[in-house]
Amino acid sequence: MLSKAENEYLCRVGPGTPMGNLMRQYWLPAIRSDEVAEPDGAPLRVRLLGEDLIGFRASDGRVGLIQNNCPHRGASLFFGRNEEAGLRCVYHGWKFDLDGRCVDMPNEPAESDFKHKVRATAYPTRERGGVIWAYMGPRTEPPPLPDFEANLLPQDDTVVSILHRPCNWMQGWEGEMDTVHQAFLHAGATRLENTRPGTFDYFIARTPAPRFAVIDTPYGTSYGAYRPATDDTYYWRIAHMLFPFYAMIPAGMMGQQTRFAAYVPMDDEHTLHWEITRGLIDPEKLPVEARGSEGRRPSPRAESEYRPNTTDWYGRFNLHQSMANDYFIDREAQRAMRSYTGIPGIRQQDMAVTESMGPIFDRESEHLGTTDALIIRTRRRMIAAARALEQQGVVPPGVDNPELYRQRSGGVLLPRDVNWWDATADRRSEFSATVAR
Ligand code: FES
Ligand SMILES: [Fe+2]
Repeated sequence: MLSKAENEYLCRVGPGTPMGNLMRQYWLPAIRSDEVAEPDGAPLRVRLLGEDLIGFRASDGRVGLIQNNCPHRGASLFFGRNEEAGLRCVYHGWKFDLDGRCVDMPNEPAESDFKHKVRATAYPTRERGGVIWAYMGPRTEPPPLPDFEANLLPQDDTVVSILHRPCNWMQGWEGEMDTVHQAFLHAGATRLENTRPGTFDYFIARTPAPRFAVIDTPYGTSYGAYRPATDDTYYWRIAHMLFPFYAMIPAGMMGQQTRFAAYVPMDDEHTLHWEITRGLIDPEKLPVEARGSEGRRPSPRAESEYRPNTTDWYGRFNLHQSMANDYFIDREAQRAMRSYTGIPGIRQQDMAVTESMGPIFDRESEHLGTTDALIIRTRRRMIAAARALEQQGVVPPGVDNPELYRQRSGGVLLPRDVNWWDATADRRSEFSATVAR
């Protein structure tokens, strides 16, 4: 559990908060490239770390991210004219470039130099692999982008999926730290006789409760959850939590999959959950133990699952399934054990449980067990890093070390007598040779 004060410290990320300051040290996934596809196209409402911003692709293809309220008298720049390398407020015509400089003030006398005294908040962006990254931090020269393999591959080889989660970012992220829920929430209805012997799914169905090893790493925390596989091996599920909100999950086959997730706070009560993966892996290329439902993921999310995006601050990447319709729960399927939850879709199951905790869960009332070890450790790490930044100005892990993000996660069979961490060093660090920085 966490005290009320610790919980607030951990969860709140608005301007001036310690955790918000920690996140502002890093580049943040802000916009998917296709959301602002056209130069001089329609601006986009972007809520990020509790700030209302407007994203726009300028005439030269670069992407600007500027404060919502015009510095003159506060009209929203969402309605602005995106033209000639800047965004022009439609109220009195003031125009701002991508750095937030006021470059035209047509309602003032021509001899006035007032425009040179006005500056809008604008954040630097970089575009890579279909993602527009934003830097909201204090440095004039931002740090390097993190070396996420799935974001360094050619854009056509990757899938960038986003889900809006109406709850605090930490609730979503904690779901990734908790591998045990896979055997219940997602696979609780899987019967052993319906899995193929010798596969990961079979090992999970046979031993729902794994044992755990949890470690601190230079980039955050990692866990290995293990259960018996063959007579002399364990099936290990190995995953990483990377500062400040990233996860590499244990599904699939370690060494072959390339993916990461990000729980990017829009504000304290809304999160965009990004998943960036190399496209579909051919199951036939996987070793036999990784085939089955686990081996076939990742796959692109079907467009039909989404409501059309709207221009609302929270109108991006909402699924049809939501709290308002109980995520389409089918009680008959639940009763008949066709599905443990009765809720269609893996991510929708995750959403139902984490969003039902409320917008910011009061962690004073929880009861953590042995399988929550990684959650406890990761929270401590985050709080300690935010304190170190707040009190001593210590730059948090990974900001200046992009290479720390070159990791892989996944499942693997290991002889029972080896050290799981040492035995997977090669697989964890195997990085696609095609990827250049
Ligand atoms: S409010 Fe934007 S130009 Fe006046
Ligand atoms: Fe899950």
